[in-house]
Amino acid sequence: MRIILLGAPGAGKGTQAQFLMGKYGIPQISTGDMLRAAIKAGTELGLAAKRVMDEGKLVSDELIIGLVKERITQEDCANGFLLDGFPRTIPQADAMKDAQINIDYVIEFDVADEVIVERMAGRRVHPGSGRVYHLKYNPPKVEGKDDDTGEDLVIRPDDQEETVRKRLGIYHEQTKPLVSYYTKEAEAGNCAYQKFDGTQAVEDVSSQLAKLLG
Ligand code: AP5
Ligand code: ZN
Repeated sequence: MRIILLGAPGAGKGTQAQFLMGKYGIPQISTGDMLRAAIKAGTELGLAAKRVMDEGKLVSDELIIGLVKERITQEDCANGFLLDGFPRTIPQADAMKDAQINIDYVIEFDVADEVIVERMAGRRVHPGSGRVYHLKYNPPKVEGKDDDTGEDLVIRPDDQEETVRKRLGIYHEQTKPLVSYYTKEAEAGNCAYQKFDGTQAVEDVSSQLAKLLG
């Protein structure tokens, strides 16, 4: 099963990816997590990406397309994958199509901008695993610690309000057009497209996803 998770920053892509990974045994491919890992490792890619990400802008299509194409050839992707944060521009979607990488489901999480600003203020992440928490809506068992490893949770550098608003602007400009792109793909019979109200509780979104995917 090959799935694209589409939605604004903070819409819940990473949160639901964790659920889907556990339930269906397919890997989460989060381009944001991959870039953050490169930053942490201090690679050339990480150095180039850091400044762009901290400013809330998108890294180049060319770089991201190369990363994803390479990742999905790995063995653990043989039975499918969850794309989280990719594609997020029309050229990225076209690159998938040109490479004949077919997608079964495109899932959109719809959340209003003001809800997102509040969510990001309370987000905490575990850098090692990509697990995501929220101080109020999805708190860890022990304050400030990851449930599985007990390691420290951190605030993402791009979660300051000013940067979040910038990221939302870029989402509306460059990523939102993918909604009509994939709606048309679904009409042509190339994939299924389903939109969810992402403002519902985390478990409610998960159970609706499970109903859709079986
Ligand atoms: P990336 O890491 O992909 O960030 P993003 O798309 O902006 O999305 P987020 O991770 O911020 O949000 P999410 O939808 O995963 O929400 P989450 O589940 O965490 O990208 C970061 C940067 O990398 C980009 O800005 C760009 O620079 C670069 N990049 C990455 N991919 C790229 C690409 N393809 N091309 C170019 N550049 C790229 O949830 C958010 C919070 O809400 C959490 O605290 C969570 O606990 C909480 N929450 C989740 N669901 C609910 C709910 N239902 N109710 C209440 N709270 C909830
Ligand atoms: Zn995420």
